[in-house]
Amino acid sequence: MATNLLIAQVTDMHIGPSNVSFRGINVREQFLKVLEVLAKKRLDLLVLSGDLAAAEGEPEAYTWIKAALENFPHPYMLMAGNHDHVIRMRRVFDLPDNEHSPSMLFFAKTIKGKRLLFLDSSRYRVTKPQIEWLTAELAKNDNKPVLLFIHHPPHLCGCQFMDDHHALQTPDEVWQILEQSSAVQHIFCGHYHVDKTVVINDKLIHLTPSTVFQIEADNPEFAIEHTKPGWRMIDCKGTQVRTRVEYL
Ligand SMILES: [Fe+2]
Repeated sequence: MATNLLIAQVTDMHIGPSNVSFRGINVREQFLKVLEVLAKKRLDLLVLSGDLAAAEGEPEAYTWIKAALENFPHPYMLMAGNHDHVIRMRRVFDLPDNEHSPSMLFFAKTIKGKRLLFLDSSRYRVTKPQIEWLTAELAKNDNKPVLLFIHHPPHLCGCQFMDDHHALQTPDEVWQILEQSSAVQHIFCGHYHVDKTVVINDKLIHLTPSTVFQIEADNPEFAIEHTKPGWRMIDCKGTQVRTRVEYL
C-alpha cells in the first residue's frame, strides 16, 4: 500500500446560482470535467480552497456543488474564500460548528500522519481567533512540518493586479507567525487565478490556478491569460513535498 499522501487542490470555481456562463465560460461544466479527471486518480483528499460560489455565497451554488460531489470517490474538504458565505456553507454541506466561531471555517486535520491546517481568509483578513489558534497549533506540533492552506496568499506575490487590488488586508500579523515557525514551509493558496510559486525567506507560497480563468500575473490591469481549468497536485512522503499544477 502506498504511504505517501496525495492531495488535489481545486480552487476558485465561482459556481453561479444558475447554469449561466461567465464571459462565455461554462463554469459548471469546467468544474465537472476537473472532477472527472480527479476521480480517476488515487487521492487521499480533495481540497476545495475557496471561492466556491460566484459572488456572495449563493446557496444554490453550494447545493449544486454538493450534488456534483455526491459520487466523487475521494474525501473532500471545503474552505471559504471572499465570495463564500460560511454560515450557508455549513447549512448546505452540514459542516460541524466551529468551537471558536460558527461564521469562520478554520480547522486542522491529520491524514497519514501529516498535519494539515486550514485558515479562513474569507473576510480578507485572518481574524484574531485564528491568529491565536494558529499560534497554539504550531506550538503544540513540536515543529513537525505541516501543510498550510489559506485562500488568500499571506504575502504579496509579485502579481501586480491582484497584489494591488485584492491582496489580504493586514497580512503582517499572520505572516510574522508563519515566518517564525519552521513547521510551515509550504503554503497553498488560491484567489489569485494564477499558477506560480513564490519563495519568501524559506517559505514557498504556491498559487493554484482557478477552474474558470487565469489572470496575467505581470499586468497591472485585469487581463485574462487563458481559460483552461487548472488544479494542483500535492504529493507528500515524510518531510518531502512535491507539487505541480495540471490543466485539462
Ligand atoms: Fe478569492
